[in-house]
Amino acid sequence: MAERPILFFDSGVGGLTVLREARVLMPDRRFVYVADDKAFPYGAWEEPALKAHILALFVRLLERFDPEISVIACNTASTLVIDALRDKFPGHPFVGTVPAIKPAAERTRSGLVSVLATPGTVKRQYTRDLITNWASKCHVRLVGSDRLAGLAEIYVRDGFVDEDSVRAEITPCFLEQDGRRTDIVVLACTHYPFLVNRMRKTAPWPVDWIDPAEAIARRALSLLPAADSEVPAKLPDRSDIAIFTSGKAEFASRRLMQGFGLVLNGGSL
Ligand code: DGL
Repeated sequence: MAERPILFFDSGVGGLTVLREARVLMPDRRFVYVADDKAFPYGAWEEPALKAHILALFVRLLERFDPEISVIACNTASTLVIDALRDKFPGHPFVGTVPAIKPAAERTRSGLVSVLATPGTVKRQYTRDLITNWASKCHVRLVGSDRLAGLAEIYVRDGFVDEDSVRAEITPCFLEQDGRRTDIVVLACTHYPFLVNRMRKTAPWPVDWIDPAEAIARRALSLLPAADSEVPAKLPDRSDIAIFTSGKAEFASRRLMQGFGLVLNGGSL
C-alpha cells in the first residue's frame, strides 16, 4: 500500500474527469482532490496573478499532503504554470494537462480541427506553441468559451444544463471550408467531458471529441514505481479526500464528492 497520496488539482470539479480514469488504473492508490473553488473560474484571471496564486497554494499543498506526485488536472493552470511549478519544486513530479493538439493533428482527415477551451488557455503562448510544433499542416481554430466551465459545474451538481447555451458555446467550433468540415474538437478544459453528451446532441454534425483524461492518468501511472502484482485493499482509515479552498462546499458539491468516493475535508486552505 502506497502511503503517500497522489494529488489532483483543478479550479473546480473538472479534474474529476481525470481522477475517475486514474482510479481505474491505480486502484490501490490514495488520492487527494483539491478544488480551488475560491478562485474559480481560472479562465477569467490575468496571467501574472493566477501564476502567483497557484505557486503560493502549492507551497501549502505540498507541505500539508506530501503527495508522491501532483496532477494539474486543469488546462488553464497547466498551460500557464507547469514549468514554473517544476522549477519551484524540483524534487516533486508534476503531470500537466495541456490541449491534445498533437493527437488531433494526427487523427484529422479534413485538416480542420477546433480547440475548445477557456479564454485563458486560448490566449496562452503554450497553446500557440503546440499548434506551431505539432499541427502546422492543419487549420486549427481556437475557441475560447466564457461559460462552459460554469455550465459544467452546474450540470454535475444540479443535473441540469440549458442546451441552447451549450449549443451557442460550441457553434464557433464548426467550420466549413472548400467542401471540408471540422472533424475534431479537442476538449481542452477538464470540465468539458461532463457535457460531452450535450455537445454531441447540439452539434451541427458529428465530430470526434478528444478527451485526454485517460492519457493523463496513464502518464501519472508511468511516473510511479511499479505496483505489487497483488492489489492490496485500501485501509479503511485511508480514504480519498476532497478539499475546497473556500472551505464552504455547498450540499450539492458535498454530494458530488461523495458520489466520487471522496470524503470532504473541512476547513479552508
Ligand atoms: N478545468 C479548467 C481547465 O481544464 C478550467 C476551468 C476554469 O475556468 O477555472 O482549463
